[in-house]
Amino acid sequence: MHIIGTGSYTPDRVLTNRDLEQIVDTSDEWITTRTGIKERRISDPSTPSSVLATNAATRALEAAGLAGTDLDQIVVGTVTGDRTFPSTACIVQDRLGATRAHAFDVSAACAGFLYGLSVGRSAILSGMADTVLVVGVETLSRIVNWTDRNTCVLFGDAAGAVVLRSTGAPGGILATRLHSDGSLVHLLEMPAGGSLLPPSHETVERRLHTIHMSGNDVFKHAVRAMESVALETLEAAGRKPADLDLFVPHQANYRIIDATARRLGMPMEKVFVNLDRYGNTSSASIPLALDEARRSGRIRNGDLVEMVTFGGGFTWAAAVVEW
Ligand code: UT7
Repeated sequence: MHIIGTGSYTPDRVLTNRDLEQIVDTSDEWITTRTGIKERRISDPSTPSSVLATNAATRALEAAGLAGTDLDQIVVGTVTGDRTFPSTACIVQDRLGATRAHAFDVSAACAGFLYGLSVGRSAILSGMADTVLVVGVETLSRIVNWTDRNTCVLFGDAAGAVVLRSTGAPGGILATRLHSDGSLVHLLEMPAGGSLLPPSHETVERRLHTIHMSGNDVFKHAVRAMESVALETLEAAGRKPADLDLFVPHQANYRIIDATARRLGMPMEKVFVNLDRYGNTSSASIPLALDEARRSGRIRNGDLVEMVTFGGGFTWAAAVVEW
C-alpha cells in the first residue's frame, strides 16, 4: 500500500540558539557544532498536541484528496499527548469528523511515527482497514527542564501526518522493521507522572516530570541501531543502500545522522536534514521531514526512500517506501 498524502504543521514561535543563551549557560557555537540545531519551534500554552496533530492531519488529508469520513483508523505516535487518557488520537478523530474511524495512541518515543506506520500498514494488509491516518506529534517544550542545558537546547514542537491506502499500484511501503530494548529505560525517560511515581510536590520539586537523558550513551546506541535496522529493512525490501534516492533519518543530532550515513555509505546529498530549523521533535521528526521532502520535490514519484529512527525505550525502527 501507498502513502497517498503527507502533511505537517509547526508552531509560529521560533526559539533560536541566541535566545537560549539568555536562559541557560550555553552558546550558539556549542549547540551548532555539537548538534547542528540553530532554532526550534515552541507551541504557545493554549495549543496542545491535538491541535498540532489536527492541523498536520488536515493537510495530509487535503494532499490525499480525502475527508475525515474516509478514514477507518487513526494512529497517533506521541509521548506528549494532551492527557494521559483519553488518547490524543480520539481528540483528533473528533476534530476531523472521522466518525467511522477507530483511534488510538502509540507510545514509542522517537519511534512513535514508524511504529504507527507499521501498525497502520498491518491493519490494511489484514483487511481491518482500507484507509489509515498516521500522525507523529510532540509538544516536548512542555516536558523540557528549562534549567538543564544538557537537554533544553535539543527539543522542539511539531506534527507530521501521512494517509495510507492500498491503491493496487506497484511499490508503496515495501518493508518495515521494529525493535525494542527495555533494559536501558533509564538512559532516556520522564521519570514521574505515571503509576511508578505519581505526581506529588516532591516529584515536581525534583523536576521528575521532565526529560532526563544520558546523551552520550544514547548517541552511541543510536548510531549502531540505526545502521543495523536500516540494513535489515533494506534487505527485507530486496534493496541496497546504493538503490536509495533519499534517506530520511530521525532528526536528533547532525553528528548521529552523519555517522549513520557514513556507515551506510550514503552520500550526504541523499540524506534529508532539517533539524537546523526544528531541533529534535521526537515522533514528529520523520513525518515532518517526509512532508518537507515531498513538497519541495526531493521525493518524486518512483523514488526509493528509507526512514530510520531511534528513541527512548529504547525503540528503533525503519521503513522502506517506493513512492
Ligand atoms: O531523540 C532520541 C535520541 N536522542 C538523541 O539521539 C540524543 C543523543 N545525544 C546527543 O545528541 C549528544 O550526546 C548531546 C548533544 C546531547 C551532547 O553532546 P556530547 O558531545 O555527547 O556532549 P557531552 O554530553 O559529552 O557534554 C560535553 C560537555 C560537558 O561539559 P564537561 O563535563 O565536558 O565540562 C557538558 O556539561 O558539554 C557540556 N554541555 C554544554 N555546554 C554548553 C552540555 N550541554 C551544553 C550546552 N551548552 N547546551
